[in-house]
Amino acid sequence: MSHIAPFFGQGDHLRALNADGLYIETEHGLLKDFNGGGYWTVPLGHRNHQLVSSADLGTWADLFNYETGACEAYAQALAGLVPFQKLLFGCSGSSVADAALRMVFQIARQENRQGSRILTLKRSYHGSTGLTLACSGLNYKKWTPGADKLAFVWDDEAALRRHGGDIEAALNEIPWEDICGFIFEPVRAVGGLRQVNFELLEALLEQCQQAGVVTVADEITTGVFRCGELAWSSRCGVLPDIVLLGKAITNGIFPLAVALISRSTWDRLDNSSTPVRDRYQWGETYAGHPSAVAVANRVLGYLSDPGIHVNRKSLLSILQERTPPLRSNRGVADVLLPADMLAVGIKFRNPKNAYVLERMMRERGYRLGVESNVLLVVPMFVSREMDLHDLIDGLAASLAVLDEKEVE
Ligand SMILES: Cc1ncc(COP(=O)(O)O)c(C=O)c1O
Repeated sequence: MSHIAPFFGQGDHLRALNADGLYIETEHGLLKDFNGGGYWTVPLGHRNHQLVSSADLGTWADLFNYETGACEAYAQALAGLVPFQKLLFGCSGSSVADAALRMVFQIARQENRQGSRILTLKRSYHGSTGLTLACSGLNYKKWTPGADKLAFVWDDEAALRRHGGDIEAALNEIPWEDICGFIFEPVRAVGGLRQVNFELLEALLEQCQQAGVVTVADEITTGVFRCGELAWSSRCGVLPDIVLLGKAITNGIFPLAVALISRSTWDRLDNSSTPVRDRYQWGETYAGHPSAVAVANRVLGYLSDPGIHVNRKSLLSILQERTPPLRSNRGVADVLLPADMLAVGIKFRNPKNAYVLERMMRERGYRLGVESNVLLVVPMFVSREMDLHDLIDGLAASLAVLDEKEVE
């Protein structure tokens, strides 16, 4: 009997025994990893020696204080890529998302704002702490008593449908007087690769700015160049107040996540009559661990190599050209290709078939991921074009087999 409490409540999850580059070794043999190397986390390949060896720079570990040289260097490097004023370190996506939400509440309290709820989008996922679960738009409220007081979950897609695409009318559904913050994923990953309507998002960010509502872009999956830029949201007309990055920032080698806080948001937190002892309560012992930050610095250096981005773009073009025809398969409800994102989702009419296809692809030598009724293909940036072509051929062949089975 295993003494390990299962990570997921249910489901059959493929266990990696070892990994190198694009490959993982499993009890089902050697597979090419097209699951982002563990859910969006390893774009630069498993066991990347350049990155792994840089971890040694921090193994002396002086913890419980991340105002170190490595953290300063990381903040400087990021500041060259996106504008922000302060960088907060955490051990996981959940912990920085939680910290960002607590910042929102702190600002609301300091400013005596009327609203005290977080606006969040249906089918979003922001983490596994009580607060982030309450502010996620998947069906997690039941795990957090009082979640309705903390968050207002808005079904943006249904609202747009209800109002025939009229964004202003849709936005009027939101109880703005109750709201002090807005958290969103530009593309809902756990929610099945659903991209937020760009015009709606821009209008939301603008409305929030006008109303003094603090905005948090959760870019834990969309960030770190998965969509071509460090932060997807940097293309928005109104920038979010806080941007969260995680997962790929250490290429899966160490747990680390960060929150980038804008100047005006930091000022709202800092220029307050609130006594210092009542502020900034978001620390964790291991936040900004020197090894993790050394790797994160090296990852940024690695990502400054234009060759990686050229490869990323070629892979993206292959996905964009070759996967839309998969829509013609009977069992496929849609092929989801969020703009500029190196990922594709095959959405099935029957959710069971996402798992059936995942198994079939496993037999062909690929590891893919599944979220509800969506099969996810998340290539590493260093994947080879020929592997992606073979994968798409395999998908097409497996879908054809599935269609035949369904007819029988
Ligand atoms: C968008 C998003 N936010 C937050 C999280 C939580 O990150 P972590 O699992 O590192 O705590 C995840 C994890 O899947 C995520 O996808």
